Amino acid sequence: MADNDAWVTVAERAAIADGEMKGVTVGSQEIALYNLKGEIYATDNLCSHAFAFLTDGWLDGEEVECPLHAGRFEIKTGKGMGPPIPCDVKTIPVRVEGDNIQVKVAAS
Ligand code: FES
Repeated sequence: MADNDAWVTVAERAAIADGEMKGVTVGSQEIALYNLKGEIYATDNLCSHAFAFLTDGWLDGEEVECPLHAGRFEIKTGKGMGPPIPCDVKTIPVRVEGDNIQVKVAAS
C-alpha cells in the first residue's frame, strides 16, 4: 500500500451481523465486507470471473459463493477455489474503529 492510502469509514459495525455480508462503494472501488464469527474482513466485491457482486451470492462458512456461476472464494485470503474462477480477488485492509468499519484505500 502506498503512503497516501487512507482509512475510510464505510459502514457502522452494527450494520453487519455475524454471518452476513454487505457491499459498499468507495470512489470507483466496489468492496465486500464480511462478518465471520464477529471478525470483519474485506475483499473486492467484483468476482474475478465476470461481472457479479459477491455480496449478491452466498456466505458459506469462510467462503463466499458467486451468484452467477457458483465460483467460490476464501474470504480471509481472497483465494479462488477453482474453476470457473481464473484468479483470486484482492483482500482489503479493514479495521473497526469505535462503532465504525473502516477500509484502507488509495486516497483520491
Ligand atoms: S461471475 Fe463469478 S463465477 Fe462467474
